[in-house]
Amino acid sequence: MTDIVPPHPGPLPLSGETERSSAPSPHPNPLAAGERGPSAGEAGEASSTAPLLDVRHLRIEFPTRRGVLTAVDDVSFAIAPGEVLGVVGESGAGKSLTGAAIIGLLEPPGRIAGGEIVLDGARIDHLPHDQMRRVRGRRIGAIFQDPLASLDPLYSIGSQLIETIRTHLPMSEAAARTRAVELLQEVGIPAAARRIDHYPHQFSGGMRQRVVIALALAANPRLIIADEPTTALDVSIQAQIITLLRRLCREYGTAVMLITHDMGVIAETADRVAVMYAGRIVEIGPVADVIRAPKHPYTIGLMGSIPSVTTDRERLVQIDGSMPRLTAIPSGCPFHPRCNRVFDRCLHERPELFEAGTSRAACWLHAPLP
Ligand SMILES: Nc1ncnc2c1ncn2[C@@H]1O[C@H](COP(=O)(O)OP(=O)(O)OP(=O)(O)O)[C@@H](O)[C@H]1O
Ligand code: SF4
Ligand SMILES: [Mg+2]
Repeated sequence: MTDIVPPHPGPLPLSGETERSSAPSPHPNPLAAGERGPSAGEAGEASSTAPLLDVRHLRIEFPTRRGVLTAVDDVSFAIAPGEVLGVVGESGAGKSLTGAAIIGLLEPPGRIAGGEIVLDGARIDHLPHDQMRRVRGRRIGAIFQDPLASLDPLYSIGSQLIETIRTHLPMSEAAARTRAVELLQEVGIPAAARRIDHYPHQFSGGMRQRVVIALALAANPRLIIADEPTTALDVSIQAQIITLLRRLCREYGTAVMLITHDMGVIAETADRVAVMYAGRIVEIGPVADVIRAPKHPYTIGLMGSIPSVTTDRERLVQIDGSMPRLTAIPSGCPFHPRCNRVFDRCLHERPELFEAGTSRAACWLHAPLP
């Protein structure tokens, strides 16, 4: 496992993604050149190209005194180079754990108990700590809900950016500082050449999150995991940050796994969406199709009260009942106690993901006829 990224002649076409296929030319930063390589992994669902990230049958467990709790169960999905995958679902669905497992930040006693995480054709789920640290930052960037969690209050943002750049890229101090100022300009920090020497507490929450985006992009990673990146920010700032993230990732050709409760953010930003429930993906497909014609009863419930997918931003609606606790995941289809379409088979047999139009849904209503 090395940091070597295979060379590639140019942007890859993505299925159903004309906008991205005609995306702006590669970023002027010379480091961005040659970064957009195809991967050697298996073909992923809904992607016509080899995936950048391929998560296969991921299972995350917590051993407890009363037995092993399964928090993420048989989760599989792929992200193509440059693609934005939205991940949505109520609290406790397993979204953050999935993101943490990919980036190697699953906190013990949580553990990957099954499956594989493949980045650019090579497994990263069982890398030693120091190798995973190199993958993190260099090949996978992270943006979390609280920008302060990603910034060290004792160091200027410039020194943090320069250190991140130099940890991952062969650059002199002076070149890294020039690059850091450029990055701060790109994320919209005014007077970046002066502000680079300021400390995190001297920035507002929105400006701090811009700095975190600069840090995440500093080494030109091919994938960013963004876990609720705007939830802690004022509503007026949220849209700016999402617009910025989307623009920069398109310019850089960076793929994004965007975890959020906000369907408006998903509608505006993502190419595909994965809906999670009780540690499983219950529906995955192109975002426009899932929003316009959701297939799984849970997704239908989530989308129910969104009046207009393109203009109105609305948080997930409440569905009667609540997400089951890990100690009491229902048999069969885990959604069955809350489902208004439940029938006998749902109580006993767990549905896999079945083809449902352009999407896939884990629901017996979409099982192929025998
Ligand atoms: N350290 C832990 N020990 C036991 N269970 C845990 C631990 N961390 C998370 N869980 C459980 O795993 C499940 C999934 O958690 P996760 O944080 O991934 O949810 P989420 O979808 O990100 O939710 P939210 O929208 O609230 O952030 C939850 O039921 C949670 O209680
Ligand atoms: S499998 Fe049954 S209970 Fe589950 S979502 Fe489909 S209809 Fe509802
Ligand atoms: Mg979470």
